Amino acid sequence: MFKSMTGRQRRNLRLLDDLESRTGREIYKSDYFNVALSQTHHNQTTVAVHTLGVAATSLRIYYMLNALGFHLDKESLLKGSLCHDLGIVGRSEKFENNRECLKQHPVDSVIAAREIFPDLDERTEDTIRHHMWPCTLLPPHHREGFVVTVADKYCAAIEGVAGKFYCPGNRFLRAMRQDNTVSGHTDKTALKTAG
Ligand SMILES: [Fe+2]
Ligand SMILES: [Fe+2]
Repeated sequence: MFKSMTGRQRRNLRLLDDLESRTGREIYKSDYFNVALSQTHHNQTTVAVHTLGVAATSLRIYYMLNALGFHLDKESLLKGSLCHDLGIVGRSEKFENNRECLKQHPVDSVIAAREIFPDLDERTEDTIRHHMWPCTLLPPHHREGFVVTVADKYCAAIEGVAGKFYCPGNRFLRAMRQDNTVSGHTDKTALKTAG
């Protein structure tokens, strides 16, 4: 069965396995992610779909860099990308304006990530804390942080310009569902409700 799959299908299934890892599932079952499923983000999508787009894009960059000989910490990248915007959940009740939201939500995302992972490592924390750079002053200190920063800007730009249908999170979820049908791979439950 695996042999009959295209390269794209194999790559998407690899991403799906990463996203459905234990780390991913811990995040999806959190109250934060539950709210993220319905909270509008960048006018066109939800925090959850944006988050999955950023995580999928970050992982794609990870595999590209890996093939080129640049080795990053995948676990930190996955955790950082999936938690980077959890602090924006409840935005309208928490923040008085966009400026406050821009500055404070990365800090709140670190707090959210620590609630889910009490032993949160420094690399992941730094990735989350500095993901808004250069809109915030300090850049990330690790490669993983730069990857998430780039993936976040890329997803936000497409979500803002091209809209819901084309945003990376929805495109990935559609492809994944298609691939599942083609390959017979189980349509795993945690990501079903997003999109
Ligand atoms: Fe953010
Ligand atoms: Fe984001």
